[in-house]
Amino acid sequence: MSSESDQTTFQPIPALDVGTQLAPHRAEVHEAIGRVLDSGIYVLGPEVEAFEKEFATFCTAEHCVGLNSGTSALHLAMRLFDIGVGDEVIIPPYTFASTAWAPSYVGAKPVFVEIDEATFNLDPAAVEAAITDKTKAIIAVHLYGHPADTEALSEICQKHNLALIEDAAQAHGAELNGKRAGVLGDVACFSFYPTKNLPACGEGGALVTNRADLAERCRALRNHGSFQRYFHEEVGYNYRMEAIQGAALRIHLKSLQSWNDARRKIAHRYLELLADTPLLLPREAPGALSAYHLFTIRTTEAEGLKEHLKANQIGYSAHYPKPMHLQPCYAELGHKEGDFPVSEAAAKTCINLPIFPTMTDGQIERVGKTVSGFFS
Ligand SMILES: Cc1ncc(COP(=O)(O)O)c(C=O)c1O
Repeated sequence: MSSESDQTTFQPIPALDVGTQLAPHRAEVHEAIGRVLDSGIYVLGPEVEAFEKEFATFCTAEHCVGLNSGTSALHLAMRLFDIGVGDEVIIPPYTFASTAWAPSYVGAKPVFVEIDEATFNLDPAAVEAAITDKTKAIIAVHLYGHPADTEALSEICQKHNLALIEDAAQAHGAELNGKRAGVLGDVACFSFYPTKNLPACGEGGALVTNRADLAERCRALRNHGSFQRYFHEEVGYNYRMEAIQGAALRIHLKSLQSWNDARRKIAHRYLELLADTPLLLPREAPGALSAYHLFTIRTTEAEGLKEHLKANQIGYSAHYPKPMHLQPCYAELGHKEGDFPVSEAAAKTCINLPIFPTMTDGQIERVGKTVSGFFS
């Protein structure tokens, strides 16, 4: 967060600004890309290996496997627990589509379970009620950067012998009772899509785990199922991370903590500026440290507020407008409006205010005042 003020200029404020965030690193990234090009090693290789070690350390985990996307990480998580046709995987309906793709890719059934109103994450009591003898895993999404209640979910998993998979695509550096996303379940799936808290210069993802056996199998699965070239232990994929992404991620990783700290400061200022509005504001659950990937407010006047933000040249996003159980691609599951009222209400009432590490104090104040002005 910069102290520079732009209150007088009235420039548009974007919902996010990856360009200014990464600009200070551009020269270093250019140099690293040059190094990769000179090396002739463009896929995996030493830059990716170094990034894997460094990101595992950041997550306080033993292993990290560099991949080409978060979606691939979720797919591989299914393979690592031998999930397939006839199996069920519990997921929230209010999430990005990739969470649901994971069970679908392996022929398993995504079983939607309601979220908790305060955190947007899986409600453990509802999870327990949805378990059948076909349930094999739970994918706990840390939505908007707020950790899911993985302590309660872990207990449920242990009781029913299920795998706990973190969808940590939005939660690099989030914590629950001092433990980081990455070690809150059996495996954690991260995305480094450029809008994420840790951006690559293109697509990227990783699977993080403390289990050596899973990490080793994941390394083979991402590389056509082979430990040794042209010998295939099982059917695999080309889900390898590119060397340029590994090199760029190593550079960006050095700033991740300070970027997350800046997000937290912005969030705290928004909480002060919006305290007297009728908005439902994001609050951290006891013991939770959000990575504040997004700052999500809720109002029944969402449409009017969006118009007001537009008129004041303030960017926003609103996702996810249609929960996954109501998407046409899952029509065969037979869900209808009203099946998951908390998720459906979230889809109608959520607005994400601008939050990016290089927001100036002036921008933060203007957003806060514009939003509170709508209600006064
Ligand atoms: C919650 C969640 N899961 C999974 C993904 C998929 O990550 P990727 O875009 O790297 O495939 C995303 C990315 O938007 C996400 O937000």
